[in-house]
Amino acid sequence: MITLDSAAGLREQIARLRAAGKRIAFVPTMGNLHAGHLRLMQEARRHAPAVVASVYVNPLQFAQGEDFHTYPRTPGHDKVALMAAGVDVLFMPTESEMYPRGAAVQTFVEVPGLSDDLCGTFRPGHFRGVATVVNRLINLVAPDVAVFGKKDYQQLLIIRLMAADLGLPVEIVGVDTVREADGLAMSSRNQYLTPDERQRAPRLYEALVRLRDRVREEGMHLRAAEENAFIDLQTDGFRPDYVSVRRQADLQRPGPEDRALVALAAAWLGRTRLIDNVEFERQ
Ligand code: PAJ
Repeated sequence: MITLDSAAGLREQIARLRAAGKRIAFVPTMGNLHAGHLRLMQEARRHAPAVVASVYVNPLQFAQGEDFHTYPRTPGHDKVALMAAGVDVLFMPTESEMYPRGAAVQTFVEVPGLSDDLCGTFRPGHFRGVATVVNRLINLVAPDVAVFGKKDYQQLLIIRLMAADLGLPVEIVGVDTVREADGLAMSSRNQYLTPDERQRAPRLYEALVRLRDRVREEGMHLRAAEENAFIDLQTDGFRPDYVSVRRQADLQRPGPEDRALVALAAAWLGRTRLIDNVEFERQ
């Protein structure tokens, strides 16, 4: 595995892979890698013989007062894990390589509408930061395929919209959420949880599974099911930001004819904000 910290070095390696006729799959991350990230690397390998990963904690997607400074950074562990996963090129840029003119004056990409809904309501500017960094990374790597997790469902859809709107010549692939044995979606932020919170954390997923069953098996109306799940979470000691059922295709509110749905939630447990979602089909 070749590790690079400069955009120029990355370009050179990409040109080499292209000269050798290789297709390229790309997986952007913020590091502190867990089995969910590594599943994305495996998926990338299925799509292309050359896999490029990036590790960069992107300041643009953190608001003032969020966890940018405390976000776990484990570059040594990440390198070993990516090497073992068979990644060919690791891009680990410094901030000045990522935003040469400075993050504050960086040209940005904004996907209107969806970026201000759901998590965007509670994290203003977050998805602009995500779209901006992912667009720049995709331009630097110029991959055939880029791979993202469905754990961040709204992020995946926003990136699909951005790629379509900007005519990026890349296929965006989504991968199912990888969970701990007790159902908790793997996340770098899970390590913020106290032992007691960690024990209660799987109830976020359980609340979404229960919501799905109330809709599918009991025929409960979506609004009632959302409200029940919100109350379930509060009873379990969470402070929910939202619980919402949407259409899988575009995250708009479903009409009576829509079948392919996804229940999404974000909720605080102590000082940790957790997100999760469950896709389901309605009869
Ligand atoms: P990060 O949180 O490090 O996640 C990197 C990728 O791993 C994302 O596509 C995310 O959806 C996926 N992922 C995280 N946990 C997962 C899990 N349990 N199962 C499956 N996939 C999982 O998401 C980001 O970084 C950033 O916003 C980024 C896209 C890199 C832009 O900065």
